[in-house]
Amino acid sequence: MSRLPVPGSLRLRFLLAITVWVALGVSAIWFSAVGIFSAHIEQSYHEELEVHVRELAHLTSFDDDGSITLTRPLSDPRYEVPLSGFYWQITAKDHEPLRSRSMTRGSLDPKVAQSPQILHTLDSGPTGPAITYGFTEPAPDGAEVHYVIATDQSELDRLIDGFTRDLTIWLAGLGSLLLATGLAIIGFGLHPLDRLAKATARLRRGEAAELEGKYPAEIAPLVNDLNAYIHQNADMVARARVQAGNLAHSLRTPLAIITDEAERLAEEPNCSHAATVLLEQSKAMEQQIGYQLARARSSSGKPYAARTVRLPEVAVPILRAMERLHPDKSFSLVSANCDQATLPVDAVDYSELLSILLDNAGKWARSKVELTFVCGSDGVVTARISDDGPGMTSAEIEDAFLLGSRFDTTKPGAGLGLAIARDIADAMGAELEILNGELGLVATVTCRLDSEIRKD
Ligand SMILES: Nc1ncnc2c1ncn2[C@@H]1O[C@H](COP(=O)(O)OP(=O)(O)O)[C@@H](O)[C@H]1O
Ligand SMILES: [Mg+2]
Repeated sequence: MSRLPVPGSLRLRFLLAITVWVALGVSAIWFSAVGIFSAHIEQSYHEELEVHVRELAHLTSFDDDGSITLTRPLSDPRYEVPLSGFYWQITAKDHEPLRSRSMTRGSLDPKVAQSPQILHTLDSGPTGPAITYGFTEPAPDGAEVHYVIATDQSELDRLIDGFTRDLTIWLAGLGSLLLATGLAIIGFGLHPLDRLAKATARLRRGEAAELEGKYPAEIAPLVNDLNAYIHQNADMVARARVQAGNLAHSLRTPLAIITDEAERLAEEPNCSHAATVLLEQSKAMEQQIGYQLARARSSSGKPYAARTVRLPEVAVPILRAMERLHPDKSFSLVSANCDQATLPVDAVDYSELLSILLDNAGKWARSKVELTFVCGSDGVVTARISDDGPGMTSAEIEDAFLLGSRFDTTKPGAGLGLAIARDIADAMGAELEILNGELGLVATVTCRLDSEIRKD
């Protein structure tokens, strides 16, 4: 159902809009979540360090010999692990400084602790930049004791980086999911337009009389208007065709009377010249009427005539009729690779076209007429009608399609066949050609399809 978006399509527009929207939304979530998390984690870190430095002071005792000791280790075991990133230090004038077991090297700057108020700063610790807290308190002997506690900045960064990485993976997943759902929504939303395209194709092929199906409220008025227009147009064409037929018919009787009179006049010696002119003109008019009647019968231009022809079946009844019309000639059908192929052309028109050409071949063939269908893989379908008759000179071929052209008047006819055939071929977008073949005349009808030939 969902097709790939092509340049200039609604699908592409929607997809771009959704992509920008999802990217903006996901980025906004990413920035705010990282910001809020960092602020919170920093705050809780600082609170924890304040508690620890207070605990440190609370556990400190001064022995009689002036040495500083802790009554018990700090509650957080990380201060015991060497170079863990968690350190403390107690210094006082004239006392040996006491440091956490984790601090196997280096020292902390006692100046961080300058007042009884807890102060903090970013200082360099034994294992890189450290967040340092400190305050001072007087020892029992009156000396100022500096309590300093520190945690590597990298510990905090590690926590924030871990969160950021997890968040990025999660949001990338969410973004992809939103895009996929967006694509599905686009497909769902535009589905009625796909149906409309299919309905239009059916209408064009003559498989439907109007745009069929139910459409959403936004498209339904357009479809209704189009259907009204299609019906109106069809009515107009049908009326025009009937009127043309009626006009041609109504002229026939007066014309027959005029011809009759002219023939009678022609027998009178004084009037023979005028009668000949009258007869000639009447014949021309008769030809025109025959031609117009034949065209009115053809269904070209009918908006909803059945517009598919099955090959080679379409030719079977025509060949049967030809065999009855020309019983002394043999008709054969060859269809190498067209079995089950369908041509999107008007069935009545295509049959008439074949009938005209087969009738001519039947009239002029010595004994054999062959109809061959060739379906090319490039969507070109050719119907070739060949006979073993006398053929035509190239000058005759040039004029053969003119109305009333006849070169062999020993056979019956009115010279309309090829003119009508060319008209029909033009209307259906096919090419009609005649040329001299090896045996007799060869007429070809070539249809070029937009798409590949359908076989089912
Ligand atoms: N298969 C054919 N072989 C030889 N001549 C042909 C053939 N088809 C048509 N012609 C020539 O072209 C002329 C015009 O043909 P057409 O327009 O069908 O008129 P009609 O069949 O009424 O004579 C014919 O009169 C005939 O001279
Ligand atoms: Mg003919």
